Amino acid sequence: MAKIDLKTLKIEAEKDIEKANNLNDLDTVFKKYLGKKGEITLILRSLKDLSEKERKKTGKQANELKKFLEEKIKQRKPGFVKFSTDKEFDVSVPVQKLKVGHLHPLTLVRREIEGIFEAMGFSVISGPEIENEWYNFDALNIPANHPARDIWDTFYLKNKLLLRTHTSPVQIRFMEKNNPPFRIVVPGRIFRHEATDASHEINFYQVEGLMVGKDISAANFKAIIQEFLSRFFNKKIKIRLRPSFFPFVEPGFEVDASCTVCQGKGCSVCSKTGWLELMGAGMVHPNVLKAGGINPNNWQGFAFGVGMDRLAMMKYKIDDIRLFYNGDLRFLNQF
Ligand code: FA5
Repeated sequence: MAKIDLKTLKIEAEKDIEKANNLNDLDTVFKKYLGKKGEITLILRSLKDLSEKERKKTGKQANELKKFLEEKIKQRKPGFVKFSTDKEFDVSVPVQKLKVGHLHPLTLVRREIEGIFEAMGFSVISGPEIENEWYNFDALNIPANHPARDIWDTFYLKNKLLLRTHTSPVQIRFMEKNNPPFRIVVPGRIFRHEATDASHEINFYQVEGLMVGKDISAANFKAIIQEFLSRFFNKKIKIRLRPSFFPFVEPGFEVDASCTVCQGKGCSVCSKTGWLELMGAGMVHPNVLKAGGINPNNWQGFAFGVGMDRLAMMKYKIDDIRLFYNGDLRFLNQF
């Protein structure tokens, strides 16, 4: 039997693999060396004719070469699968249509609210979700140990930081840096430590409103909110103002809208009352203006904080606030 020259065979095989231009070429190289009648296969088969010493030595080397070439061929394959014009990859086959995502209903609603207020001359402002006690409570006329802190119980972090319970702290942050007159809206995410139900979440969104000028009154507030709601719902919405207490306004009131989910008849969303509480509001308390660096003798204005989720629920007739947050695509794909 002719002397087996595995070294030369290795050099030739490597060259062949290198030269291959497509999957077919690579297949031919595989057959030439490793196929049923391939050169290395034949060498392995002929080992039995060698002396025991030769068999061990050549057998080991031939098996190593076999593994080496298998690996080399495997490494070259991915490049061809992608770009080959062979039948394995037909570039002319139409691609599957990509599913394009869409905006979350709360994002749609936020953008719409911003647009309506911008058209009425308001600027859109934002503030931090992690607040300190000064902005979330003290500056809003809620001193330490005031019972109102219980209503806005929250999640405390280290160093007296907390997750803000309302967008009202941004009133102070804005007043510190800007002189009146101004009108702003502040959409944002807020947090409450409370039990959830069809209309309450622990994480939800509010839009704060603040308008300060020389003679801004509660009548201005009513007109603006009525106009906002009519534009938002594209129809006249019945609202009612109820006297209410918020330490940061005086006088304070709550605005309810006739429930659009049940047309005022009473359902789980409006707790069977026919009315859904949309926002708290009032004339900015002099202490709050002072905390923001504004002289209450010269300036006055109104503020409000509306639940954005509640507006979205009424607009789209959604009967459970938790649907916004549980990521169920059967719900989300409807928007
Ligand atoms: C406030 O958060 C006050 N900062 C609002 C305010 C601003 C009053 C400026 C006066 C002046 P309240 O906790 O009531 O108030 O929340 C305001 C609105 O947020 C509610 O009317 C309701 O629409 C919504 N809301 C309150 N709690 C929840 C909750 N757990 N889940 C969903 N929406 C809520």
